[in-house]
Amino acid sequence: MSLALHHPVAAEIIARQQESPSIVSLTLRLEDRALADRFQFQPGQFNMLYLHGAGEIPVSISSDPSSPDPLVHTIRDVGRVSHGLAQLRPRDRVGLRGPFGRGWPVENARHRDVIVITGGLGCAPLVPVIDYVIQRRSAYGRLIIMQGVKHSDDLIWRERYAAWDAHPDTRVLLAADVGGKHWNGTVGPVTELFDQAQLRTGDSMAFLCGPEPMIRACVQRLLEEGLPADRIWISMERNMQCALGHCGHCQFGARFVCRDGPVFCYADIRHLFGRRGF
Ligand SMILES: Cc1cc2nc3c(=O)[nH]c(=O)nc-3n(C[C@H](O)[C@H](O)[C@H](O)COP(=O)(O)OP(=O)(O)OC[C@H]3O[C@@H](n4cnc5c(N)ncnc54)[C@H](O)[C@@H]3O)c2cc1C
Ligand code: FES
Repeated sequence: MSLALHHPVAAEIIARQQESPSIVSLTLRLEDRALADRFQFQPGQFNMLYLHGAGEIPVSISSDPSSPDPLVHTIRDVGRVSHGLAQLRPRDRVGLRGPFGRGWPVENARHRDVIVITGGLGCAPLVPVIDYVIQRRSAYGRLIIMQGVKHSDDLIWRERYAAWDAHPDTRVLLAADVGGKHWNGTVGPVTELFDQAQLRTGDSMAFLCGPEPMIRACVQRLLEEGLPADRIWISMERNMQCALGHCGHCQFGARFVCRDGPVFCYADIRHLFGRRGF
């Protein structure tokens, strides 16, 4: 049976991977093994990670939903709490509650092409979707993964992208605003990849995550290419506190990102998305 932990429980760091100078992946195991056995999550859901003396932040689960123990979280060191989490080492502990939110509608995408478009660390919440599709490869059409980064040196998981690209009917396209010496991907914003992607928008579903200006530009391209707004799904980020739809910190129009998102259908939020103040 699945459960959502509303109060933090202890989780031990069992492995730590420095992905780049500012990005770390932490592998966590719930100390209560009975809880760990019951813990399940949907691709796109997040946990609240609590670091004693620093605070608590939402972080997407970036591991495979079919093996939820242990859990992996990939964290960019941007401020007080994320910095503290990024310093942790194996055997350190955090508080964890979750999983929260509504994830990606992976089941509704069955038999369609799946277009995954991510920017920066936006790839983390979509790794479970990619794992999910690859494990059920014959149930889905083409899988197109487009990832953009500011500088090619920021690209993490190069081996993982190469491994995904080797699967049948799967294409990985990479872009960097600035390409370093050995960069052989596209130079420019992620929208530059659309011409190579040969999307079949008549029967596709798109999942996007990343900085909002990047999402806006990509949604515009997808709409121009004929993908209907109700087949475009995006993950939103807002400051959070309760993660339970109580405190209003993540208010987004009439919705709460923690409870009604973080994944939203573009058709439902297009009137608010990108508007100042929302
Ligand atoms: C649903 C959801 C899922 C998320 N998943 C992930 C994830 O998988 N990995 C991850 O690293 N982060 C993720 N985040 C973002 C993460 O929660 C924030 O980076 C974190 O709350 C920042 O808190 P802090 O105390 O470290 O920084 P703060 O001290 O609060 O902020 C320090 C500075 O960083 C800036 N900042 C805050 N948030 C971000 C951000 N998201 N990106 C860039 N700059 C920021 C602030 O404007 C401020 O200038 C997610 C957020 C949400 C809502
Ligand atoms: S974080 Fe409290 S309502 Fe969403």
